[in-house]
Amino acid sequence: MSDEAVVSDVLSRVDQPWWRSGTIYQIYPHSFADSNGDGLGDLPGILSHVDHLQWLGIDAVWLSPVYPSPQHDNGYDVSNYRDIDPRFGTLDDCDRLIAALHERGIRLIMDLVVNHTSSEHEWFIEACASRDNRYRDWYIWRDARPGTVGGEPGAEPTNWGSYFSQPAWSWHESTQQYYLHLYASQQPDLNWQNPAVRDAVYELMAWWLDRGVDGFRMDVVNLISKPSDLVDGVVVAGAAFADPSPFVRFGPRLPEYLAEMHERVFTDRPADLVRIGETPGLTVEQARRLTRTRECGLDMVFQFEHMEIDRKPGDRLSPVALSIPALRGNLALWQTALATEGWNSLYGNNHDQPRLVSRFGDPSPDHWSASAKAVALALYLLQGTVSMFQGEEIGMIGATLRTAADFRDIRSVNYLRAAAAAGLDETVVVEALRLTARDNARTPVQWTTAPDAGFGSTDPWMPVAEHPPTITVEAQRVDPDSVLHFYRALIELRRTHLVIADGATRMLDTGQTPIMAYLRETVAETMIVVANLSSASQPLPELLGQNLRAASTPLIQSGAYAGANSLAPWQAFAAFLPGATPKGAP
Ligand code: GLC
Repeated sequence: MSDEAVVSDVLSRVDQPWWRSGTIYQIYPHSFADSNGDGLGDLPGILSHVDHLQWLGIDAVWLSPVYPSPQHDNGYDVSNYRDIDPRFGTLDDCDRLIAALHERGIRLIMDLVVNHTSSEHEWFIEACASRDNRYRDWYIWRDARPGTVGGEPGAEPTNWGSYFSQPAWSWHESTQQYYLHLYASQQPDLNWQNPAVRDAVYELMAWWLDRGVDGFRMDVVNLISKPSDLVDGVVVAGAAFADPSPFVRFGPRLPEYLAEMHERVFTDRPADLVRIGETPGLTVEQARRLTRTRECGLDMVFQFEHMEIDRKPGDRLSPVALSIPALRGNLALWQTALATEGWNSLYGNNHDQPRLVSRFGDPSPDHWSASAKAVALALYLLQGTVSMFQGEEIGMIGATLRTAADFRDIRSVNYLRAAAAAGLDETVVVEALRLTARDNARTPVQWTTAPDAGFGSTDPWMPVAEHPPTITVEAQRVDPDSVLHFYRALIELRRTHLVIADGATRMLDTGQTPIMAYLRETVAETMIVVANLSSASQPLPELLGQNLRAASTPLIQSGAYAGANSLAPWQAFAAFLPGATPKGAP
């Protein structure tokens, strides 16, 4: 390619949306920083750390829900969409946060939880008042199954289970009907078929955008469309209920609702407002369909397939051994499927998933640092928008969970209760949850080596995870070899090399080894990424060796150097390849 062609290739991409090369940083407000010592993080706490975010170089903050909420599901049960829960602060604090982030060139993405509300939202309170209340049809109500007595086990309109180990229907005694809740009984599902519901959602979105926020992460947004006829599903052996997912994960009117949302909320607004759809269970074709153009309504999906590789099918809380070849295969599938149409998120953990280093790396003292870096490098040099989670930048490890009493999350608590009812051995269930529970990622961020880890309260809502003093922001800021400095360099690398945002991804065949290796290619350049995702040295597969002999000095790397013919434990790097090198198997 001539120099002119390279320049025009680069310029043609200048107007690409920021998120193609950007990094989003998720803040889980409960655990980020506590300004008033009440044990719960808050908005002023976040404000006190905006300089850290700027130093790290992130492009946007995704803030998990801070709206008023009874907190049955830590804020994912919203009782008022236009205010801030006093536990987290005030609307003024929120305005101050928007301004402080914007001053630092950082966007703020709000969490939008509109598949369901809290049962304490005034809409639901009204809906419960009587069958002819004007809000009744804002939720999904059904009579008891014919021939049964409402409220008795088995009288539910369908045999669906909620995602939190309960029936998906709760009986409302005074109006003698069931309401649907795909999550907890305190999270009734909204009826999106009702245009008044959609109007209300679009209005509240506009309200936040007018306030200055830069987009939304839309909680389980692919579940909003339910079929009109709700029917029984299949109950697999050993399960108490049927999984409702086949009926609701891509409901009949989903594309229509999202396109309408775009039309009603975004057409007259700047195109850099981002819409991220949290979309469990979506296929690649469906993902493409929803993110193909801006008019489809989503700019990217946030899907879960790579999070299910080490889980028993149908039970996200039951662990199975992680297979790196299977993980690689799944990542490759999504890279290829969305290469030219649609867009994906890249993530290795969040508030619903265990910590990346505990799950995909090796948190033991010998390997903790190199493995945290290697996993990040392997995952975040793929194509997509990085969505990292607070504390990940210092390689935080999972919560210290020993007994059933250590779990706070409603999903874990319900799971434990259901397991006990089914007569399962509690120690076995706790052992599984120790690896898989959402509680794992929800411990306070470790800012300093002070007794409260700099979180701001000595008795936080969840205890600080046991950790060595090296896993703090304070210690890592002064260590150029730290995980923290590595993340900063990785974020910067993504921003400066367009091949990471735009290049085609070609996974290299490394057989059954735990090595992940791939090429990122544009007409102008080829980057090679290699990561040994294991705590053992690995011989270098021959083809990879050939590629690497021609590679430039690494742009970024982790782990030790083990010579030309093997990879050290968690050794990982990215480098450029000259044009005419053998490129490996497809
Ligand atoms: C999403 C959230 C999760 C929440 C659920 C129900 O998956 O990330 O935390 O429990 O939706 O709102």
